Amino acid sequence: MIKTIEAINELRETVQAWHNQGLKVGFVPTMGNLHAGHLQLVDKAKQIADKVIVSIFVNPLQFGVNEDFGRYPRTFDADCEKLTQHGADVVFFPSVDTMYPNGMAKQTIVEVPEELTNLLCGASRPGHFAGVATVVTKLLNLVQPDYAIFGEKDYQQLLVIKRLVADLCLPIEIVAAPICREPDQLAMSSRNQYLTPEQRQIAPQLFVCLQWIAQQLQEGSRDFERWSVEAQRQLNALGFKSDYVEIRRAADLQVPTENDKELVILVAAFLGQTRLIDNMQLSL
Ligand code: PAJ
Repeated sequence: MIKTIEAINELRETVQAWHNQGLKVGFVPTMGNLHAGHLQLVDKAKQIADKVIVSIFVNPLQFGVNEDFGRYPRTFDADCEKLTQHGADVVFFPSVDTMYPNGMAKQTIVEVPEELTNLLCGASRPGHFAGVATVVTKLLNLVQPDYAIFGEKDYQQLLVIKRLVADLCLPIEIVAAPICREPDQLAMSSRNQYLTPEQRQIAPQLFVCLQWIAQQLQEGSRDFERWSVEAQRQLNALGFKSDYVEIRRAADLQVPTENDKELVILVAAFLGQTRLIDNMQLSL
């Protein structure tokens, strides 16, 4: 069974010993309740590094007051079994007190510039990316990996993390992994299990919506606003409550000009209380 580490000093000693032997360390931060999307990140880490650490920490700092921190699924034993099967070396499983010894209110906060954090998910979830950036910075400093692997499922999060690593000069390579989907193309997410059977049937329409917009763009249209409005209307007609559908520049999430070729379509929508996100990159 995979080794579990809860204490910071043991984590540091373990990684230090590996580095002393010249081994490269790959790190996969998660909030647990692991599915194939997470495990794919572990597989990637195994490919590029000699040792793999996975963290499981449901980070209270990145949840809003009315969000699902309390009911977020916690499945530590099952997670450890999956990590063992995928050959991860250590699971770092800190407590909230270990991560925030002075309390969250007295924690130094890492704020990535607003141009990346006050739009899309950042607009709907105030404080969310400060919570993510802060915990990821702490985790990267604790683990001190050579590589950290993140999923493109959370596209904005990936850009936020790349930016903080660059701006804070962290000597870590950020590696992106593609979105892992269910057979019906719904992006895998721990939140999918909140869905009722009826909602679960509707949920793959998010991907259909992304594909539909991608097709309009591939066919030459650059009427970004029109497709965004039309897609939201379609989602709402299907039973979603759309949060946003946006076509943005892949590099920086800004509104594209007609000449931009590298784009990403991003969607966030509620089914009942459950907020789902998905995205699709496209190169025109
Ligand atoms: P969590 O939602 O557990 O996701 C952990 C990692 O798995 C993230 O990099 C996320 O993008 C990736 N991931 C989740 N579902 C995926 C899918 N279907 N395909 C590919 N990758 C997927 O994201 C977080 O946790 C937290 O914000 C965290 C970074 C751990 C900070 O608390």
